[in-house]
This record gives sequence, structure tokens and C-alpha cells, in this order.
Amino acid sequence: TDFGTPEVRSETEVTCFIDGREVTVPSGTTVMRAAALTGGSIPKLCATDNLKQFGSCRLCLVEIDGMRGTPASCTTPVAEGMKVHTQTPRLQKLRKGVMELYISDHPLDCLTCSANNDCELQDQAAAVGLRDVRYGYEGENHLGAMPDISNPYFDFDPSKCIVCSRCVRACDEVQGTLALTIDGRGFDSKVSAGLTSDSFLASECVSCGACVQACPTATLQEKAVKEIGKPERAVVTTCAYCGVGCT
Ligand code: FES
Repeated sequence: TDFGTPEVRSETEVTCFIDGREVTVPSGTTVMRAAALTGGSIPKLCATDNLKQFGSCRLCLVEIDGMRGTPASCTTPVAEGMKVHTQTPRLQKLRKGVMELYISDHPLDCLTCSANNDCELQDQAAAVGLRDVRYGYEGENHLGAMPDISNPYFDFDPSKCIVCSRCVRACDEVQGTLALTIDGRGFDSKVSAGLTSDSFLASECVSCGACVQACPTATLQEKAVKEIGKPERAVVTTCAYCGVGCT
């Protein structure tokens, strides 16, 4: 199961209701994780099992009785007696709208993309029921941004980036290198390999691959996967060098 946010340890527990299903979890557990423990699934892009909650993609919105608005389930902790709704028509409409905006700024080349059928953006677009996009993609964002192929092991294609910041957080939280950052604001924001370098190779990057593993699209992808495709079988090994776990 993909729980969406890291496990929380606590000496106290709370009991809440997710879509009518009762669940008891350690205090501090997010609504997203509690929902996963009931067997439910909430769409998400920026949350993962091993990175701190960030709450940037706004895809995981839920409704909670007695609470105004639609909070992000990945950053909202459960409370005793809380009643959460994850699949209302209003939420489905909101999520579809959010996803439509992401897709409107993403190349529509899924069938020829090296991440086809292994892309979380593709999966989540299907999960929210997005079939048509009203806004055309003309490459407005990241226009003219060239792929960075300087690293010997992986490529970075900014045109496919949704700026979820998973790579930046993985570099910081998993590897502790801080080689990546988000440069710019709003529509102009983009992942950058350090403020003092103009390529991954020239940056502080140690090629641990944590960013590649964290990327939900084909923005950061191993050269070998792009060239010969995904392996039929994979194992994860962890050595003492960086502890990321090579796949
Ligand atoms: Fe919750 Fe992105 S998964 S805001």
C-alpha cells in the first residue's frame, strides 16, 4: 500500500471516520495515511511515504465535518471523532480542475514518453477521471528550457516538470546534499541544480539517485531506462555510502 505520508509514532491514539469507516491511528497521523489504512485512496502528487508532508499540489483535498474549506489530507492530522469525506462530487470536481491545470502545462506525448505506464501524473489524471483538457499546451512554461543531460547517470527534462518539489526534498531529506532548489516564483518557478551552477554535473549533486526515485514523471530519469526501458525485475540495495537505496 502507498500510504502517502510517513508513519507517525505516538504513545496516544485517536479514532476517526474516513468515508464512514472507523480507524484508530497514532496521534499526528495524517488524514491521507488514515484513509490508506482503511483501504481508501486519495489522489496525490507531492506526498510520498518517505518525505515530510509538503502540501503543494492541492490534489488531495478532502471535506471534514465542522471544518470550513477543503484542507489537504496530506498535511492535516486526524483528530478524535473527526469525520472525513474523500470522494464527494465537489471534491471530484475540484481535483479534476487542479489536474487539468497541471496537464495544460505538460507535454501531451504520453504514448511516446519513456515513462508511459510508469508515470504518477498519468495515473493520477486517470484517477480523477480527466479525459479532456480545455486549455491547450503550447509549452508556455519552461519554454526554451533545454534538457540537462550533463549527469552521466540521469537526464533532467524541465518541460515535464510539475514542480512538486519531491526531488528537491529528497535531495535534502534523503541525501542531505541540498544540491537542488526551486528557482523563481509562480508560473516561472522551476527546479534548479543549485544557485551557483547551471547544470547537474557542475552542482553539488553526488549522483545518489534520490531525486530520480522521487520524481513522479519523466522529468528526472535514468539514462539506461530511457535508452533500453525499465528492467523486468528490480531489487533495492543499500550501501554505506549514501543510504538512499539503489534500485
Ligand atoms: Fe497533498 Fe499534494 S498530496 S497537497
